[in-house]
Amino acid sequence: MTTKTHNTRTSTGRQLGLLLALAAAGSAIAFAAGCRGDRSDAPPRQFFPDMDDQPKLDPQSETAFFEDGRSQRLPVERTVAFGSRSELPGTVASDAWDGMITADRESLLKADETFAFGIVEGSTREEPVYVDYMPVPVTSDLIKRGEERFNIFCSACHGYDGEGGSSGTVGALWSYAPSNLLAEQYRDRGNQFGKDGYLYHVIRDGLWGPDGSNRMPAYGYSIDERDAWAIVAYIRTLQAASDVAFDELDPADQARLEGGTP
Ligand code: HEC
Repeated sequence: MTTKTHNTRTSTGRQLGLLLALAAAGSAIAFAAGCRGDRSDAPPRQFFPDMDDQPKLDPQSETAFFEDGRSQRLPVERTVAFGSRSELPGTVASDAWDGMITADRESLLKADETFAFGIVEGSTREEPVYVDYMPVPVTSDLIKRGEERFNIFCSACHGYDGEGGSSGTVGALWSYAPSNLLAEQYRDRGNQFGKDGYLYHVIRDGLWGPDGSNRMPAYGYSIDERDAWAIVAYIRTLQAASDVAFDELDPADQARLEGGTP
């Protein structure tokens, strides 16, 4: 009995010693494996460690550097942040850059109301008169861009061919039936719904029922002005294409369609 107890004690002591030794070895290994800032061949690789690890102030943090203790500066009094670039038009050497800066500011100012809102100059957004024709030249590049954007943003509800109803996977389950964009009222510029400006407005601002319920989401947040006009150009293309019967198509196009290319 006594021997047994003695033995147990000894082995507990040994286990403890072993554990301590292991813990010490473990931390030695962890220490040897490297600290932040040490050179190593292991990933993640830093190609410019001096840039990655430069001293910097994190946003919304405290610092003793500025008197008010904030890492971020407040805008100069009586000024408003303007544009995503800090340069002023006409102050950079490259024409391409200057064009981008100017376009950026014009789009923020929305000075061109026809381009920005699809309305006739002089009418207001509260009482809009939509333009019959888009203010952007229609090129095959614009239509291609519109096709791509339409397939991403609209086809889920209105179907790839624009027929609406239950032709889109989401549209089939949506609380309101998506409109058929090939219908006469969306082609005839003699009525409100058929004007380029109106189609543009629906894309950017969505559709709301009289009770304020949202019937179609607004896509202005992710489809910019140019892309919205591109989609309008593509809707016109879908409308024109739907007028041509399969038999009237070029044999090459018939083969492409039968091959399953949308
Ligand atoms: C989430 C589903 C959904 C998506 C995505 C969607 N729509 Fe709609 N759209 C609808 C529904 C539903 C209606 C009909 C609403 C109603 O009857 O009030 C509609 C109606 C329309 C109308 C007719 C407006 C009118 O006043 O008659 C146009 C034009 C239109 N959509 C264009 C588009 C375009 C272009 C896109 C892609 C940018 C798009 N829609 C994306 C659901 C959608």
